[in-house]
Amino acid sequence: MPASDFRPPERRPFKPWQRYLSYLPLYLLVVPLSRVLEVSGVWKKLVRRRGAMFGAFGDYRARAGDVFACAGFKSGTTWLLQMATQIAHRGNAEFADIHQVVPWPDGPPMLKAHMVPIDDPSPLARSPTGRRVIKTHLPFEAVPYTEHALYIGLVRDPKDACVSGYHFMRSMVFGPAMPSVATWVEMFVQPSFAPVSWAAHLQSYWRVRDRPNVLFLTYEEMKRDSAAAILRIAAFMGVELAAAELAEVERRSSFAYMKQEQQRFNPGHVVPWGSASGYMIRRGERGASDELLTPGQRRRIDDTCRAQLVALGSDFPYDATFAAR
Ligand code: A3P
Repeated sequence: MPASDFRPPERRPFKPWQRYLSYLPLYLLVVPLSRVLEVSGVWKKLVRRRGAMFGAFGDYRARAGDVFACAGFKSGTTWLLQMATQIAHRGNAEFADIHQVVPWPDGPPMLKAHMVPIDDPSPLARSPTGRRVIKTHLPFEAVPYTEHALYIGLVRDPKDACVSGYHFMRSMVFGPAMPSVATWVEMFVQPSFAPVSWAAHLQSYWRVRDRPNVLFLTYEEMKRDSAAAILRIAAFMGVELAAAELAEVERRSSFAYMKQEQQRFNPGHVVPWGSASGYMIRRGERGASDELLTPGQRRRIDDTCRAQLVALGSDFPYDATFAAR
């Protein structure tokens, strides 16, 4: 049974001629413009929050049953959404696209018509456990709060999040106009990185991790033992799963399953020259940032993120958690 009554408007894929024609403005305008931004150092300044790029919670009030999945950019958000949604539906959440069940109020307005609105009652009404999941990349203080709702803060090694973000932005949006890896690293470590810097996001959830309605998780511990992570999330959500239900949540949250079913998790073609798939459920590894980054770039991310945490007064054990393998 579908986990929501929401049906988005039909999305027409770009036709082959539209895709081919788009290469003209891409190579004649967008790529040269990107090179100018690269050389002039302007790319870095474009990472600030822009109203046109992000939605907001507006006057939504959090309520009992809400499970806010508060993950950092490219930190395993979709994986957490799948785990928590399958737990809420006892391993039987059916959907064509996860955003038909999980609202994302701070998501890009251009995708809004395709995502279930946060005030659509059907995901909660159809949930057998009285829990429904809400996605956000915002820091804790920007998320509607009540002690009756649950908040799962998810963070990932910033080097891996940076690499994941590079592939994601390149495949989905920029194509050959993607800034260089060196520039992307500098964009990623900006304190103004939108919607929030890696360190400010982490610290906002680390600070409140002892509250009974907050669970602080790392992508690395989910990778190390995903079965244990599922049990932890289920216990936090107050959902006791039968053995067969647990096995189904594990199966549907596995990398192999999510890769095979990636059309349920991908935004698809966003620009005509972009890829339609392959960038959302990509490689799924931890500590593998040397696939793209030089030792110097990895050090730059470590040093900057560590220093930003210290500046925020954080006692998060950065080196113990994200030590290079
Ligand atoms: P990589 O690009 O390093 O492969 P987000 O959902 O926040 O955008 O995060 C995407 C990252 O989570 C991608 O990382 C993706 O492969 C990884 N991911 C998604 N599902 C996963 C799963 N079931 N197991 C492990 N990693 C997963």
